[in-house]
Amino acid sequence: MVFLRYTFVSFLLIDTIIGAYFPINRQGWTATADSFQDGNEPSKAIDGNANTFWHSRYNPDDPLPNSITIDMKQSFSVNGVSYQPRQDGSGNGRIGQHRIELSADGQSWGQPVAIGTYVNDATTKRTTFIARSARYVRITALSEAQGANNPWTSAAEINVFTEANYRSRSGWSGIWLNTVDIPIVPAAAANLPNGKVLLWSAYRIDDFGGGTGQTQTAVYDPTTGEVTQRLVTNNQHDMFCPGISMDFNGRIVVTGGNDEQKTTIYDPTSDQWVAGADMKISRGYQSTTTTSNGRVFNIGGSWSGGEGGKNGEIYDPSANQWSLVQNALVSPMLTNDRAGVYRSDNHAWLFGWKGQSVFQAGPSKAMNWYTTTGTGGVQGAGLRSTSQDAMNGNAVMYDAVAGRILTVGGAQHYQAAQATADAYNITIGNPGTTPQVAKTASMSFARGFANAVVLPDGTTFVAGGQSWVEPFTDTTAALVPELWNPATGAWTQLNPMAIPRTYHSIALLLPDATVLVGGGGLCGGCGTNHWDAETFVPPYLLNADGSRKARPVIQTVAQTVRLGASLAITTGGQVRSFSLVRLGTATHTVNTDQRRVPLTPSGSGTSYTVTIPSDAGVALPGYWFLFAIDNNGTPSIAKTIKVTT
Ligand SMILES: *[C@@H]1O[C@H](CO)[C@@H](O)[C@H](O)[C@H]1NC(C)=O
Repeated sequence: MVFLRYTFVSFLLIDTIIGAYFPINRQGWTATADSFQDGNEPSKAIDGNANTFWHSRYNPDDPLPNSITIDMKQSFSVNGVSYQPRQDGSGNGRIGQHRIELSADGQSWGQPVAIGTYVNDATTKRTTFIARSARYVRITALSEAQGANNPWTSAAEINVFTEANYRSRSGWSGIWLNTVDIPIVPAAAANLPNGKVLLWSAYRIDDFGGGTGQTQTAVYDPTTGEVTQRLVTNNQHDMFCPGISMDFNGRIVVTGGNDEQKTTIYDPTSDQWVAGADMKISRGYQSTTTTSNGRVFNIGGSWSGGEGGKNGEIYDPSANQWSLVQNALVSPMLTNDRAGVYRSDNHAWLFGWKGQSVFQAGPSKAMNWYTTTGTGGVQGAGLRSTSQDAMNGNAVMYDAVAGRILTVGGAQHYQAAQATADAYNITIGNPGTTPQVAKTASMSFARGFANAVVLPDGTTFVAGGQSWVEPFTDTTAALVPELWNPATGAWTQLNPMAIPRTYHSIALLLPDATVLVGGGGLCGGCGTNHWDAETFVPPYLLNADGSRKARPVIQTVAQTVRLGASLAITTGGQVRSFSLVRLGTATHTVNTDQRRVPLTPSGSGTSYTVTIPSDAGVALPGYWFLFAIDNNGTPSIAKTIKVTT
């Protein structure tokens, strides 16, 4: 196996590297802590005996944060830390919010390798991150696990992991920041207008079952690193395997899934989950998209609520009412999956477009135009060039002004199938017209169950997935992300991530122009649950030596702007262009909310004006991230603005 480490070329090799982590022998190690109770010394956390534990002093004068520092006595390539809470039945001192840091000398610690929140239970928590050389490991507890408000910290066992096949990453692009530990396995996600990220799993934090009426949720704040957890029961909606769309007011409309008739709306203004009207047709694995008049079109979804006949219906958020659009037939968009309609009407690639139309770009090899007015309709839009059915591939509108869509990956069958590395460049015009489609360069890695995120500069970032699609496995996972350049059609390989992201993974653009990639698994006692996310810093934010580039700054801009209106923007200095990227939602490879609108400014220096497209099918109203991009191609941190009708 040793020879493999020098030829990092194939997905098989990446798979070899996954799971090649092992705990380091702790013999001779020492541990110190800022506080301990006599009999519960820090050494008890590395003694190999789960019945003994480190505990901070039973004295409120040693309040949180508490930290424990482990000296391994020599350097290792460290890529993981596990934390086992005390095993005596008491929850006192269980770590909740925390950070994990590494050091070569026990003095300087640098940026944390992990932040986040552990779930409040007695199971062992395992954090994986990009390997770094270190002799010292420090875990700092910032709070007790949620639900407890004691001033203590305890740990039965702490292990440190090393990567067997550590390789130098010089010459690769981009940087993966710290891992974020999340107290649920996030299988669904949505950007919020306040910059936070809403995440949810199913009725359980790590497993799903049929129609249980509750959902485990979490919110991650990228600016503070804080992750909070909340069980949502008031809507009796288990929101696992849903359709998700953001309406004109940034409200997140979640439909079906495990409770297959339900509609639930997350309102970011009140931070409440509220019940919406039941759908006319029960669904799970359907797709939804917001249309140019602010309604939510919904089609497919035989995974739950019975198989077949999942024709269109549409939701009016202001009237809280679903109506059938019965001639928006599902049959033209079926794939030829060997499992039949249970799989073949899943996860449609939908784009709300001009005149209340919806363009369906896949995953079927046939593309279609849907009419959503009246009783609806469907009209063929031809084949996606040479593409086969591409279930669990991705489709991204990287330039809504020009009608451009990139599609990548997917497989002919939902599971037990070879994924493709192929990618296609689609240009749509007026509804009902035949789109232009051409194959663009293929990715270096075949992927199904990946995520694709359009970046402010119009490049598309693709991360995760696996070449042989098999839910709840991480075999054949692609750890190397790729970036597609719309100007050249070429792909660039980027630095590999630490954690596989396959079935049930998510990715979203963050307002600081980095990308959050997380989740995967949600299969109970299985080995592929990923209670975490990693953040990728794209090359446009980095100098060649990995340091951060200076960024342009948006100083002032209105918080709302109407379609077709001009928008005045002041900046900290000269910029080249602006772009809008609509806030995204993600689950099961589907993100019908993200899209990018490039904006050509007039003006110079620190004062610019842009014009918002006038067509609601292009600049779909709702919340968008506004980025300024300087002459080096470096984006600013976004201002979130609301586009209104
Ligand atoms: C995508 O398609 C459009 C329309 O055919 C074309 O102008 C553009 O150059 C294509 N981009 C790439 C990278 O192939």
